[in-house]
Amino acid sequence: MTGRPATTNVVSQRRPDVAVVGGGPIGWAVAWRCAARGLRVVVHDPAPGSGASHVAAGMLAPVAEAYFGERELTALLTESAGRWPGFAAELTEVTGADIGYRTEGTLMVGLTVDDLAEARRLWAYQQELGLPVTPLRPSPLRDREPALAPRVRGGALAATDHQVDPRRLVPALRLAAERAGAVLVAEPVRRLSDVTAGATVVAAGCGSAALTGLPVRPVKGQVLRLRAPDGGPPGFRHVIRGYVDGEHVYLVPRDSGEVVVGATVEERSDLDVSAGAVLRLLRAAVDLLPEIAEYDLVETLAGLRPGTPDNAPILGPLPGHPDVLVATGHHRHGIVLTPVTADLITDLVTGEGNSDTLLAPFRPDRFADPPGGLGAPVAGTFPHSTEENSWN
Ligand code: GLY
Repeated sequence: MTGRPATTNVVSQRRPDVAVVGGGPIGWAVAWRCAARGLRVVVHDPAPGSGASHVAAGMLAPVAEAYFGERELTALLTESAGRWPGFAAELTEVTGADIGYRTEGTLMVGLTVDDLAEARRLWAYQQELGLPVTPLRPSPLRDREPALAPRVRGGALAATDHQVDPRRLVPALRLAAERAGAVLVAEPVRRLSDVTAGATVVAAGCGSAALTGLPVRPVKGQVLRLRAPDGGPPGFRHVIRGYVDGEHVYLVPRDSGEVVVGATVEERSDLDVSAGAVLRLLRAAVDLLPEIAEYDLVETLAGLRPGTPDNAPILGPLPGHPDVLVATGHHRHGIVLTPVTADLITDLVTGEGNSDTLLAPFRPDRFADPPGGLGAPVAGTFPHSTEENSWN
């Protein structure tokens, strides 16, 4: 699609090879990979990293988030999670940044008998897919994580489901991209025709709908941040994903003492935080880990995941616009899907690699005649960051 090596990164002097619309994790990762291959890259975003990656917990959870009826998505999640150790190591090597990548694994737990029955059904499905899920009875479960409430009836270990801190990840990706020569243009893009480049990559989260006509909708998530007392680390090490009296909750511990508690999943587009959501998340979290009632509540926040009709990402050329590549619709999986998305989109930009098989289920042309007209980019405005702002 393009491929002339860069000789300068001064965008005002020469047309860039690649314009990335959206300065979230996906956008900066694409920019990094493309710039590292010698392409002149600009990233357009008025407020990079301020979208939902700022809200996201950062779970890298292809196992715990392998849901019924999503086999192709699960395969992509697994592929990307497998790239994460190398991706994290390379990013840290290039930038020196600590991105909060942790590998203690994830415990999935059920509070009541009914919760455990629901959870076990999913674990059995995940095991059928060959995913590494190890059921644990209450005693070995509590040996692994003594802070769990005595009432917790049982659980399972997803040892390969890791975590990263998105608030550290995005600045590190930006630094890597800028060191490789990418340049930020801190202005919104209102229509794709305003962008001049060999190839344009749309990684603009919910804003991608207005730019491309593709069916990307906001899915609201409310998230809390707690802090362990006295500046110490949280009293648990694993990511905990709980079934709690019919509610689903996750708790993500960070070395800094922070615990991220999430998340609601709401078909809404506002960013209000409701008392009811805070109550439900905290009640479920405290039911699982009573000690967190003593933690400080330091932040309540809402973000918008970019959802699609089949809840899978949209990756590949925009029909009718071969020089426009779409990398959006990552919904609940943006952070885990960052490495594979960056690699696949970069392969498409450069015309290298063999991405067809992985991309096939996720191509934009699977959506026939969406509202707004597929392949008919329309004008849009972006009140917030234009990042591809899904999260894990
Ligand atoms: N993947 C976690 C969330 O979307 O809340």
